[in-house]
Amino acid sequence: MYNSYPEEVIEEVRISNDIVDVVSEYVKLERKGKDYFGLCPFHKEKTPSFSVVPAKQIFYCFGCGKGGNVINFVMNVENLSFIDAVRLLADRARIQLPEGGDEEELERAKLRKEIIKINTDAARFFFNNLGNNEKAVSYLKNRGINERTIKRFGLGYSGEEWDSLLKYLVSKGYKESDILKSGLILQSKKGGFYDRFRGRIMFPIFDLRGNVIGFGGRVTDSSLPKYMNSPETLVYNKGRNLYSLNFAKNSGEKRIIIVEGYMDVISLHQSGIINTVASLGTALTESQGRLLKKYAEEVVISYDSDTAGQAATMRGLDLLSNIGCNVKVLLLPQGKDPDEYIRKNGVDGFRKLVDNAVSLIEYKIKILKNQIDTSTTEGKISFLNKAASLLSKIDNSVELEMYVKKIAKDYGISEESLFAEISKKTKAKGGFRKVVVNSGVFENRPVKEGSSKKDDKLVHDEQFVLALMCLDNSLYKLVKDRLTVDDFTDENNIKVAKIVFEKLESNKGIVSAELFNLLDETTANVFSRLINEECHCDDNKSAIMEKIRSIKLYKIERRQKEILDILKNDKSLDEGDVERLKIELNSLVMKRKSI
Ligand code: UTP
Ligand code: MN
Repeated sequence: MYNSYPEEVIEEVRISNDIVDVVSEYVKLERKGKDYFGLCPFHKEKTPSFSVVPAKQIFYCFGCGKGGNVINFVMNVENLSFIDAVRLLADRARIQLPEGGDEEELERAKLRKEIIKINTDAARFFFNNLGNNEKAVSYLKNRGINERTIKRFGLGYSGEEWDSLLKYLVSKGYKESDILKSGLILQSKKGGFYDRFRGRIMFPIFDLRGNVIGFGGRVTDSSLPKYMNSPETLVYNKGRNLYSLNFAKNSGEKRIIIVEGYMDVISLHQSGIINTVASLGTALTESQGRLLKKYAEEVVISYDSDTAGQAATMRGLDLLSNIGCNVKVLLLPQGKDPDEYIRKNGVDGFRKLVDNAVSLIEYKIKILKNQIDTSTTEGKISFLNKAASLLSKIDNSVELEMYVKKIAKDYGISEESLFAEISKKTKAKGGFRKVVVNSGVFENRPVKEGSSKKDDKLVHDEQFVLALMCLDNSLYKLVKDRLTVDDFTDENNIKVAKIVFEKLESNKGIVSAELFNLLDETTANVFSRLINEECHCDDNKSAIMEKIRSIKLYKIERRQKEILDILKNDKSLDEGDVERLKIELNSLVMKRKSI
């Protein structure tokens, strides 16, 4: 690790720069399936062997073996140090880096801090107002929000006067010009200042670190606009934050439910469903998608079932699955939102809906069914045809068969005709795509000087375990009972293992691209090859177990050899030493059997 910015800042910079966008600025990329290919900028070639994998946010060249995340790419292509590459990418995403050298940067950092202080004081002010306002209190009460929830989310009320917040903040010593930059006040044409939020229930918006970065404000009646939100400021970017992710990320659940509104989040949270977030009044963005991917193994979209909600669901599904999220859709009855649903049907009812959430394919086929009148022969054929098109994109035959069975049953069509239609489509595409199977071979591995072939295998196996854990965080449960950081032998691997284990232990999660923030160039290349070529296992669990076994076995054998060697050659041993070594040797034999 050779950086001087906090880890989470580097990660924010990485997440905010989509690797396909960045690489496209240097390399002409062509999309093939889910990935992109182009001519490698790092070695001479005539046919493309350079690939970018958006789902994993990494690049890898099959020709020269260079690979890594977006930061590594910029380092290589611009010939920059790690820090300078981070700076360039932070600029590109308009992210303010902490401290730094030049005056302007320092000034902005100070201003960010000041705005967060202003926001925090404003949130307290709104919160304290709430109790004094009969209308606001009874509004929340009528919606079933209890005292505890109000405190947890820091809900408040902005008074009806034109400038109560302004007066309060000025009395606390803040400058009007700074308050203006927080977005909490506006300037009239005549030059006077007044509060942006008046007579509204206030929802503070927190970032991952718990800072108040902005607000949403709802009217207590049916007047419009229903919500007002903070504008984009130095600290608030609505496309890069998710409401309540600060709570959801610590819920200990591997799935996150995404809903449309503040009130949905709060209502579900109050019922104990803490793993819920809302996009902040905008269509889901890729940045938000990558955040979700980082904190959840599965994302469940639970938008309203109206037409607008359906369109947003489709968009969200495609966006999330394109960046490699496992995504499902929760089906709400017509005209309901999650808040209403849970209030009428209780938390168990809602949990049932979560468990019955459908996959992307099922959802698309369901929507298709709604759009086509299948009571006519023509309609039936059209439905069969389009459903087959969707199904033909599945490249795993077991999965495909499962879907065909289910869909045939659900929609009353025969499995045979569905299969026949699908195979027509796949033939047109050139047959079923080959499923990549883990070969377990590792050629082209750079052999370090002075290390034996066997040690190389150990180093490699350790790297495999680490890489696979980053690709599939759920494996940690399995690994942690069998390996500790101390079991790793290679110096680099120990460093990486420390970080990976710590993140997974504290439920923070780690994605493979994040791993590259921690690696030097040579190790980054090794890991990117692993992730791109080797870690495609049919069954992650058995693959990782096999490597763990081989690591343990290797270490035992090495110690056995060592002991035998000492026993044979070391003439200074006394009887006690010999006895102790023999006991250890015996215990190693037992250990070996128990692996
Ligand atoms: P909803 O209208 O579904 O709001 O809008 P809601 O949170 O469920 O609130 P209730 O139940 O009607 O009280 C979903 C989200 O869209 C944004 C807000 O973030 C809201 O939570 N929105 C909506 C706005 O930003 N402005 C608006 O005028 C309306
Ligand atoms: Mn609602």
